Amino acid sequence: MGNNKRIWEDLGERDAYYAVLTYEQFRARNLDENAREVFFELGRAHMEEVTAEFERVTGEELNGSEAIDYGCGVGRVLLPLADRFEAATGVDISSSMLDKCRRNAAAVGKENIRFQTAQEFIAAENDAYDMVHTFIVLQHVRPSIGYEIVNTLLKRLRTGGRAMIHVTYRNTDPWFRRMRSKVYRDLPGVHRLSTMMSGRDAPFLPMYEYDLSRVTEVFHLNSCEIVSEKETDHGFLGKMFFLVK
Ligand SMILES: C[S@@+](CC[C@H](N)C(=O)[O-])C[C@H]1O[C@@H](n2cnc3c(N)ncnc32)[C@H](O)[C@@H]1O
Repeated sequence: MGNNKRIWEDLGERDAYYAVLTYEQFRARNLDENAREVFFELGRAHMEEVTAEFERVTGEELNGSEAIDYGCGVGRVLLPLADRFEAATGVDISSSMLDKCRRNAAAVGKENIRFQTAQEFIAAENDAYDMVHTFIVLQHVRPSIGYEIVNTLLKRLRTGGRAMIHVTYRNTDPWFRRMRSKVYRDLPGVHRLSTMMSGRDAPFLPMYEYDLSRVTEVFHLNSCEIVSEKETDHGFLGKMFFLVK
């Protein structure tokens, strides 16, 4: 399955916060109030970094009427994004993630957020945004689908709008770990079997490498200029592209 919906439904139910940030403190069994606070603080810090970068390169405040966070998970970045815009949309492939996200938004009294499944997002052809954001999401999506998602997001971005698109492009693991990840990713069942045999409880998150020239082609086709770039390294090398349409 190209978009791995079943994996994310299951993770959203069993271990949603750990599936977003794979640190032991965010495991469902360890997730106390303190860990939750750290988790959401990391989301606020990320949003501040994105905001500061846009404001530095454009000299303008980052705000507007409508923002979208594609692959919002439990709302870690969506909630602070919604503080800067009149309205925000959180999209996710996993309805169990969206349920938790909805509850987290309600718990802090956010009323300007609406939620869409990935399917509803595709159907919402008349939606338009002033800001598009997607972070640590496309890395888990098969690139042939990911390029299309980026294209749809940028097509709907209003002229003058901003976008922060994050993709991964190189796995820097040693070759045997790279091979193992590919086997787990492309041969369903092998990872399940290996965890059953070893007794380990470690979810497998599929990772993909994007062709950066294809990604930038999609930006250009949608009249989006790259105003800044930042490297990321979470075991996979990635890039945060800051765009203005
Ligand atoms: C690692 S989490 C990141 C969540 C959020 N962006 C953050 O930084 O806190 C990845 C999220 O992307 C969602 N996702 C995976 N594939 C997707 C797809 N094809 N369309 C939309 N969401 C997807 C997963 O369900 C999960 O909630």
